Amino acid sequence: MNGADREGVGAVLALLSVEEKASLCLGADLWHTAAIERAGIASVMVADGPNGLRKQAKVDDLLEGVPATCLPTASALASSWDLALARRVGEALGQEAAAEGVGVVLGPGLNIKRSPLCGRNFEYFSEDPLLSGEMAAAMVEGIQSQGVGACLKHYAANNQETERVRVSADVDERALREVYLAGFELAVRRAHPWMVMAAYNKLNGTYCSQDPWLLTEVLRQEWGFDGVVVSDWGAVDDRVEALKAGLDLEMPPNLGVSDAAIVAAVRSGELDEGILDRAVSRVLHLVGRARREPGPRAAYDLAAHHQLAQEAATSSAVLLRNDGGILPLSPGGTVAVVGDLARTPRFQGAGSSHVSATWVDVPVEELRRLAPPGTEVTFAPGYGLEPTSDDPALAADAARLAAGAAVVVAFLGLPASEESEGFDRRHIDLPANQLAMLAAVAKANAAVVVVLANGGAVRLSSWDHHARAVLETWLSGQGMGRAVAELLWGHASPSGHLTETIPLRLEDCPSHLNFPGEEGHVRYGEGVFVGYRGYDASHREVSYPFGHGLSYTTFACRDLVVSVRGSEAEDDLTVSVTVTVANSGPRAGAEVVQVYVHDVAATVARPEWELRAFQKVALAPGETAHVSFELDRRAFSFWSAARRGWVLEAGRFELAIGASSRDIRARTEVDLPAPEWRPRLDGDATIEEWLAVPEGAAALRAAFGTDEQGRPQGLLADEEMLALVGNFPLKRLSCFPGLGLDPSTVHALTSRLARSS
Ligand code: BGC
Repeated sequence: MNGADREGVGAVLALLSVEEKASLCLGADLWHTAAIERAGIASVMVADGPNGLRKQAKVDDLLEGVPATCLPTASALASSWDLALARRVGEALGQEAAAEGVGVVLGPGLNIKRSPLCGRNFEYFSEDPLLSGEMAAAMVEGIQSQGVGACLKHYAANNQETERVRVSADVDERALREVYLAGFELAVRRAHPWMVMAAYNKLNGTYCSQDPWLLTEVLRQEWGFDGVVVSDWGAVDDRVEALKAGLDLEMPPNLGVSDAAIVAAVRSGELDEGILDRAVSRVLHLVGRARREPGPRAAYDLAAHHQLAQEAATSSAVLLRNDGGILPLSPGGTVAVVGDLARTPRFQGAGSSHVSATWVDVPVEELRRLAPPGTEVTFAPGYGLEPTSDDPALAADAARLAAGAAVVVAFLGLPASEESEGFDRRHIDLPANQLAMLAAVAKANAAVVVVLANGGAVRLSSWDHHARAVLETWLSGQGMGRAVAELLWGHASPSGHLTETIPLRLEDCPSHLNFPGEEGHVRYGEGVFVGYRGYDASHREVSYPFGHGLSYTTFACRDLVVSVRGSEAEDDLTVSVTVTVANSGPRAGAEVVQVYVHDVAATVARPEWELRAFQKVALAPGETAHVSFELDRRAFSFWSAARRGWVLEAGRFELAIGASSRDIRARTEVDLPAPEWRPRLDGDATIEEWLAVPEGAAALRAAFGTDEQGRPQGLLADEEMLALVGNFPLKRLSCFPGLGLDPSTVHALTSRLARSS
């Protein structure tokens, strides 16, 4: 908020009664902030997001929205690893919101995919915080470039739908900082969203909507957030506590209850009116900058947005396998398209993000439209869309069609009834009727290509031997049909990469034994070892690793060079990484250069590899690009709960360029200097810690005495005893008789060091 704003807001604030101020901290209805005509305060409309506008169309239908472009969901968009694209998608969303008079879009969502079971994973970007944060920042910048606000959600640790409104996510601070908060931090610092949405769940026992550490200390004081904190819809348990913690706006409004509670708390002195004023000022600032009237219809071009949806879907698809180069399809002969999802595509998720698409490209029609001359495309539904509908006759028809074809394209995926906001999946398998069809067609024809459409990861290991190629489209919006046709016919080369690991089995997932929790708590027992950080650390085999994605061309990477500038001590450490990438194959394509870091010798358990930078580069055949990155100290640090901050430990780090976290193409090492950290030498420090530091060792030697040759005496001379009690704090040793360390010696030692330090 700038100075002029502050003055304006201050003047309006002075006009308002406590009742009016309280009303501004609640919405007026499901989608609007409160207006106060007398004081010239207008109302602002908010609407879902995040993969298209969902402005409620009818009063009596909460989920039906006005027609809008259905863009790829987050799980798809992030698979493009294309930040410029994410920004353009944000711009399109912002334009549509502006045209509809919507002031703030409720998205993007950037919770971490902790388990593939989370029913809402389609709305989230990745299991990796850097990728999530970068994608979210790009979308926020795009949306806000149109004068419309964006709202990061769901802050924080809302990684499951089971018991989502009550469960306590019990997460240690290191995992929170490094994994669950890091994406929010990046997007807040970089893109300055107008809003952040407090999640439904509790974090370590406190509702996110009333957690002062989360909403004020971390979000505002550490990261500098200056917008409005809004509750998720119905997330407020105690309005006054929420206000004190830093929650400005309650949605939907608990009218007559929350406003009355705020007024009563101010009157009784329980709530400082300054706290209320602070929240009101933030809401007024939002009202000041948000659009209130619908913009001109001509502000956006429906056809251009549909084309953007197609382009984004094309960039998002991940080619998981392509044995013998079966893709792109060869012209001529018959292509048998099987699976009802080819004519009734699933391209978006279910719940509050459901968009009323302006247009839907139907895959089988698009495959026909783009088929080369002399190529016939036939179709059989193969299965019923309901997972329980087992119709062997449908599968038999598909197998008959497959038998006479040159190649079979099988469309498989999750039906909407199996994944949605509101509940988690119980397993990660595709419906049995689809797999039965796949087995039947594979028996009839070995040339099978599978096209997948699912929001969360599905298990492939039980069936992908039936497929020579697998193209994962996720839920990639209304342009998915066209995108698939372009990719299969080779008009474009696949360039998506996995943003989450596809495990061999659900049981392999690092969070498996702690998901979705019990008795009101879900314990994040895997700590920082989420997703690939966990699979890689335990060397668990996976179906397809994080970062994986094939192309119709090949890429070579060489000349990895790393140089260090500045220093940790001066707080200006910069590590520059440059690498050359070449398109070494026959077609145009795009490569994602992934930079990974590993701390070789750390005092805490650290992942094998962590993604620290990435860039997508489009290259013509034979073309070369020099790609460079700058990493700062954070890329090498861990969060130390004991030292209450980010810690860079001096020493050796490995840097690598990977085609996935498991396919490292180039690596090098670098030594980073950093001030040495020493434990405080007091009574709580162990005797080993004292001995590890020269002045501690000297003080102990003086206390225990030395012989004529200067050799230490007493306990320090007794190696066996030292091994036994080496990890005892000094003050605990002082109660053992005979060790030569009574309380007065400990006191003398610690005060001597305190004097000299
Ligand atoms: C969802 C939010 C959404 C809100 C409004 C909630 O149930 O969790 O993501 O923005 O509803 O529809």
